[in-house]
Amino acid sequence: MTDDTPNDPQDAIDSQGERRREELDDRIFDHSAGDEQEGIPFVGAGPGNPRLLTVAGKELLEEADLVVHAGSLVNSELLDEYCAHAELVNSVGKDLEELIPLMRDAYEDGDNVVRLHSGDPAIYGAALEQMDALEHEGVPTHFVPGVTSAFAASATLRTQLTLNEVSNHVAFTRPQGKTLTPEEDHISDFVEMGDVTTCIYLGTHAVRDTMDRLLEDEHDPETPVAVIYHASWPDEDVIIGSIGDIADKVEEAGYRASALVVIGDAVTGAGYERSFLYGDWANRGSSDSSAETEASDD
Ligand SMILES: C[S@@+](CC[C@H](N)C(=O)[O-])C[C@H]1O[C@@H](n2cnc3c(N)ncnc32)[C@H](O)[C@@H]1O
Repeated sequence: MTDDTPNDPQDAIDSQGERRREELDDRIFDHSAGDEQEGIPFVGAGPGNPRLLTVAGKELLEEADLVVHAGSLVNSELLDEYCAHAELVNSVGKDLEELIPLMRDAYEDGDNVVRLHSGDPAIYGAALEQMDALEHEGVPTHFVPGVTSAFAASATLRTQLTLNEVSNHVAFTRPQGKTLTPEEDHISDFVEMGDVTTCIYLGTHAVRDTMDRLLEDEHDPETPVAVIYHASWPDEDVIIGSIGDIADKVEEAGYRASALVVIGDAVTGAGYERSFLYGDWANRGSSDSSAETEASDD
């Protein structure tokens, strides 16, 4: 579809959703993540440091004629370094009605178009609705993963998000607000589970409210919390505290956005036990290959 008539993106989303319910996309079996594919790639820029962009992402950016990027969380250093020859468009403040024809028309004119999201596009990226709207208009799209900010935050904290005997699970979540109702906010449930590392996106402005709710729900005020502002950026800042005092510290620092909040004992990395992988499993030899495979996934 190449005419200028604006197609309603909601119709496109509904119809692609319907298609997905009815049949699997053949491309799932034809391509792996990281493969070269036709169409517009939705690339994860990583958390900020240009060195944390994938090789595939870098190659696509270097060949791009048009890069539509996700505003301030995509580091301008990365754009300068890899997109010197491309036209740059900031997607902030643009709705689907504007973004879709922009990308579609450039693609149909033969340009290499890259849609660049911060971190990984699959985490709070609202990528699929853009992809569905483009696909509906005959423009193929695909994901190119990136390093999500929770992974940069754990690297900065020099810890693991999962740790034997400390944290068996990781929750990527966000606090209640315009998008989530209080009933859909599960932060307290994750903390209640005890062995979950809770990574809160889009919650810097709401640290006080979030911690107050956790205290109301009688969670241990000493539970470790870290707030990592601009993980991997030159002005990265790390604030370490607990459910009881982190809000004061974040307010003192003045951060209202662009930070990741991590709750749980994995923040300090204290108290973990050595894993089976480099213990009993390692000494078992190769007699039980399925057990080995499972152990080496640890
Ligand atoms: C719209 S979400 C996008 C998340 C992104 N897709 C990702 O995978 O990291 C934006 C939120 O991600 C978090 N975020 C993104 N980049 C960050 C960074 N470098 N350091 C800390 N938090 C970051 C913040 O919580 C921010 O409010």
